Amino acid sequence: MKILGIETSCDETGVGVYDSDSKKVVHRLTSQIEIHKRYGGVVPELASRDHIKKLLPLVEETLKNANCGLDDIDGIGYTAGPGLMGALLVGASFAKSLAWSLHVPVIGINHLEAHILAAMLEKDKPSLPFLALLVSGGHTLLVLAEKLGSYSVLGETLDDAVGECFDKTAKLIGLDYPGGPEIAKLAKSGKKDKFTFPRPMINRKGLNFSFSGLKTHVRNVWNNLDDSDVEQNRADVARALEDAIVDTLTIKCRRALESTQMSQLVLAGGVAANKSLRDSLTTLMKKQNGSFYCPRGEFCTDNGAMVAYTGYCHIKNGHVDDDLSVNVYPKWHLSDVEA
Ligand code: KG4
Ligand code: ZN
Repeated sequence: MKILGIETSCDETGVGVYDSDSKKVVHRLTSQIEIHKRYGGVVPELASRDHIKKLLPLVEETLKNANCGLDDIDGIGYTAGPGLMGALLVGASFAKSLAWSLHVPVIGINHLEAHILAAMLEKDKPSLPFLALLVSGGHTLLVLAEKLGSYSVLGETLDDAVGECFDKTAKLIGLDYPGGPEIAKLAKSGKKDKFTFPRPMINRKGLNFSFSGLKTHVRNVWNNLDDSDVEQNRADVARALEDAIVDTLTIKCRRALESTQMSQLVLAGGVAANKSLRDSLTTLMKKQNGSFYCPRGEFCTDNGAMVAYTGYCHIKNGHVDDDLSVNVYPKWHLSDVEA
């Protein structure tokens, strides 16, 4: 079976082809970072317009790279939510129309489920059930992935997502968008413990997160620094922010492992690119005698491969859209996914 995956939920157009016989996936991506950079964040209308421009050529390019034509496609998965309404509609309309013309099944995929299942694309992969930490620009979730289509959200952010906290702090201290990689780079030359930032919500029961207070704390510290040695201050603030975030996420993961008795932890989403976070969770799982999984970088950020694979899992189980109306769900919660 060859399944085409279409991802247009935010600022990346992603297309993938998953082949269930060879278990291989081919994918292509175009990023809109250059378009949104000057605004310091994603502009929804510009995102939709760029998806319209890029999607068709990207599908052609991906099929070519997968050595197949449209006639070889057995089904289509597309991201139906959560995400930006206009951006989602581009992918959904395209996928539904193409599925209709090819007479193949089509299924709307939850973007967060796809991020979590991306770990299954690796050779060394987890088996369900497992615990997942999903950290991206828009989401921060601790999830018990029980089986395909069945996810319990154990904790989530009450305000800003982790990636958003990196991005907004980066903007504050004069770094480029997206801020996460910039902070990570700079943190390497920052002095440990020059500043100590709060680890939000670790003294409260439960597994929820909150990052907006941390962002405000950093603003206050930054605004009160004198102008001498701005470069070193910037690096020290980056280091303290990264340390606070990594510590907080690691503490919550340890608690979630204890309460669920899971021995496998999957890290997913764009922030999974952060090396300090990966190292800290690797150490945690070693201490717990468990296993840590994190998909390669290109499967952590938004991509079409994870949507193609998740589409395959659902279509194989006979779970497909039952009509051709175009529906998207900008606020689709992971707990509401069905199998
Ligand atoms: O999953 P993703 O590509 O897009 C969303 O669905 O949000 O995640 C993008 C987020 C951005 O906030 C970016 O700053 C963050 O991931 N990010 C990082 C790193 N690389 C990307 N955050 C911290 N450290 C990194 N190395
Ligand atoms: Zn994402």
